[in-house]
Amino acid sequence: MLRPRKKGLPTTLPGFAIWNGDVEKFLAALPSEPIFDLIVSSPPYNIGKSYENKKALEKYLEWQERIIDLMIPRLKDTGSLCWQVGNFVDNGQIAPLDIEFAPIFKKHGLQLRNRIIWHFGHGLHNKRRFSGRYETVMWYTKSDDYVFHLDAVRVPAKYPGKKHFKGPNAGQPSGNPMGKNPEDVWSVNPEDVWSIPNVKSNHVEKTDHPCQFPVGLIERLVLSLSEPSALVFDPFAGVASSGVAAALHGRRFVGCEIGDAYAKTGLSRLQDALDGNAKFRPHDKPIYDHTRSKLSLAPEAWAKDDLK
Ligand SMILES: C[S@@+](CC[C@H](N)C(=O)[O-])C[C@H]1O[C@@H](n2cnc3c(N)ncnc32)[C@H](O)[C@@H]1O
Repeated sequence: MLRPRKKGLPTTLPGFAIWNGDVEKFLAALPSEPIFDLIVSSPPYNIGKSYENKKALEKYLEWQERIIDLMIPRLKDTGSLCWQVGNFVDNGQIAPLDIEFAPIFKKHGLQLRNRIIWHFGHGLHNKRRFSGRYETVMWYTKSDDYVFHLDAVRVPAKYPGKKHFKGPNAGQPSGNPMGKNPEDVWSVNPEDVWSIPNVKSNHVEKTDHPCQFPVGLIERLVLSLSEPSALVFDPFAGVASSGVAAALHGRRFVGCEIGDAYAKTGLSRLQDALDGNAKFRPHDKPIYDHTRSKLSLAPEAWAKDDLK
């Protein structure tokens, strides 16, 4: 049963719920039946953000493993799990968390389908190593019989006018008229305009949360990896960005979030999405072409160009 942790904070909307408390307790209290169609989350990375207590990597992984052990039996056989992670950093040394998590998922027999590189092009500048500019989404399925709707997330082809050069289809368009596979590198390079920027201070989705998912990132996963009306679960829901993506596309959502303020913001974002008032950047919106900006030129060239 979902109950507000603090008096007065409603946590459910029809088909949508946020458990404002510890995910481990929530999962331990759930019947051990497969109910989730898609699990999608970005866990705390144990890097000392305001919402976490940094601990030794082994202790952190033991904690995460306990949660994953509780979660997997509740994922349907046709279901998918997407775990979005970056690096654990200690004393200038990085431990890529996808590598650290892999043995835990393998123990459960999950099948890795893609390791998506999400390149966002912004972040902290390092002086003693190359600045990190990507994170990964590990997409696992529970079986071979999994949901995958590629057509729902195709992106425009680079050369839609390309034709077969020879053979029986010579002269016919060679690409899929619905667009191309978005591939496993989701990059903000200028030539790859169908990408998904991260949520920085000027992003339309920005809330008080320091590490939000962009809704578009989850839209692409929800659309391709679940059926309409599927139940999406985010164990570390933050401000419910996964829930917003689920609501936008007719899926249902359950999330767990220990922070009261984040849970409250998440619930109001869900309400907005259900009312058709979500503030979000759609996954299929082309990215801003930074070469059109005056700031892309050296100051001495500013006077000579007519760029805005
Ligand atoms: C990386 S953030 C996720 C942000 C989220 N993807 C979003 O778009 O808002 C991780 C979240 O997990 C929450 N959290 C940490 N420990 C938790 C626990 N034991 N149970 C539930 N939530 C927890 C944190 O408060 C934080 O909001």
